[in-house]
Amino acid sequence: RDLYAPSRVNSPGVEFGDETALASLLAEVATGQTRVLKRAQPIIAGKPASGQARPVVSPVDGREVGTVDEADVASIEAAFAAAAKAFQPWSTTPATTRAEALEQLADLLEHERGALIALLAHEAGKTLDDAVSEVREAMDFCRYYAVEARRQFGSGQIMPGPTGEENRLVLRGRGTIICISPWNFPLAIFLGQVAAALAAGNAVIAKPAEQTPLIAALAVSLAHKAGIPPGALSLLPGDGRVGAALVGDSRVAGVAFTGSTEVATKINQTLAARRGPIVPLIAETGGINAMIVDATALPEQVSDDVVMSAFRSAGQRCSALRLLCLQEDVAERMLDMVRGAAAELKIGDPRDPSVHVGPVIDGEAKQRLDAVVARAKAEGRLVWQAGLPAGVPDGLFVPPAIVRVASPSDLTEEVFGPVLHVTTWKAGQLPALLDAIAANGTGLTLGIHSRIDQVQEAIVERLNHGNVYVNRNMIGAVVGTQPFGGSGLSGTGPKAGGPHYLARFAIEQVVSVNT
Ligand code: SER
Repeated sequence: RDLYAPSRVNSPGVEFGDETALASLLAEVATGQTRVLKRAQPIIAGKPASGQARPVVSPVDGREVGTVDEADVASIEAAFAAAAKAFQPWSTTPATTRAEALEQLADLLEHERGALIALLAHEAGKTLDDAVSEVREAMDFCRYYAVEARRQFGSGQIMPGPTGEENRLVLRGRGTIICISPWNFPLAIFLGQVAAALAAGNAVIAKPAEQTPLIAALAVSLAHKAGIPPGALSLLPGDGRVGAALVGDSRVAGVAFTGSTEVATKINQTLAARRGPIVPLIAETGGINAMIVDATALPEQVSDDVVMSAFRSAGQRCSALRLLCLQEDVAERMLDMVRGAAAELKIGDPRDPSVHVGPVIDGEAKQRLDAVVARAKAEGRLVWQAGLPAGVPDGLFVPPAIVRVASPSDLTEEVFGPVLHVTTWKAGQLPALLDAIAANGTGLTLGIHSRIDQVQEAIVERLNHGNVYVNRNMIGAVVGTQPFGGSGLSGTGPKAGGPHYLARFAIEQVVSVNT
């Protein structure tokens, strides 16, 4: 059997244009709404612990979605003890059994899809179609890593050697892995990290983003129901202080982190400075993701793909387009079309299925983004900003905006929201543009719109971005099809949803037997 042949398929989506399918989805979400968790607590060895309580507030309407008990020192200590106890039995559980638990978890996610979507929309402000995609991605991660666990963590690989000797290479779990995940994919990235670490035979302590603990608590309860041993997966909600305490502990065997480059760098320093073994950091951060458009590109396709990549999900994806680089000859025409297409986006309550752009995550994000737009306006660089439709409260909504910059080097940080920066380049100056893009040191996603093969090839050759999208949008990497992640300031690799991910959560051991 070809072990690389797909033995699973990704989960199906929902066709929003099909009225019956949409009505049945809305009914599922309405029923699910009654089953959402209202309190997230630390969960250690399957038992809830209490802690300092605070409200979890929705970015959609400012209402309280529930409460969270933040993990304290006692919870952290208990989680490490539970993980230490659970590690050996779990790491020696056959990979097939671990895989079955993850597949069972995927089935439970499917079953609880309504509640999960309701939480994604209200707790994280995700639009319904983003929420549907996110539940799918979470299921796909579980099933993908299950297949990879069977393939890579079975009886090992026989290495060539002399007659009379058997050399077998096996992968085994490392120990206690800390998983620290972001609010922008509070289910898919949360569970993607956790499922990978568990598939590889580790015990996990998961610290969800402080803004989105409720969906994480629901996911952990489903994981335990699916057969993940309680001690092998603990949940410690809280802010960055909980993450810092976890990462600084000498018992940590590895850290998976998705979030900002700044925090990834701090984690790297903490791991290097602490006592204890040398352990891996698997970091996925963001980037100043660029799209390069030349004069041969198809304008309608460019405008659709730009709007999708820059403004959908309110620009709150690490893959989102930040810097649009238009060839000067066609720039004004392309920009007009982008503006026209962006003006069609409906901004509002993400629970309304016709809405394309929901709120940003919190007040801090709103202030930061508003300040970027205000500064551009004051400097005469604001090209366009959508208006807020009547009836949508100012709240945490940031209407999509387009801001001009003279060159790529003028955009020095990732602006995490629906604010697109645009620059132009002259025919004949593509190499200089590529040098300037390379100079910002990030390399997550890259878009290319050109119908000339040599141009596509020259760009791909010069830049080392992790995910390059040619003549299409640049978001929504598909598990097992577009393994996702970057290098340099954008991450350490290996790619999530790809064949090399699990191995990073493992140690390699070679057993040589004189037969
Ligand atoms: N994996 C997501 C995407 O590709 C993360 O941002 O859009």
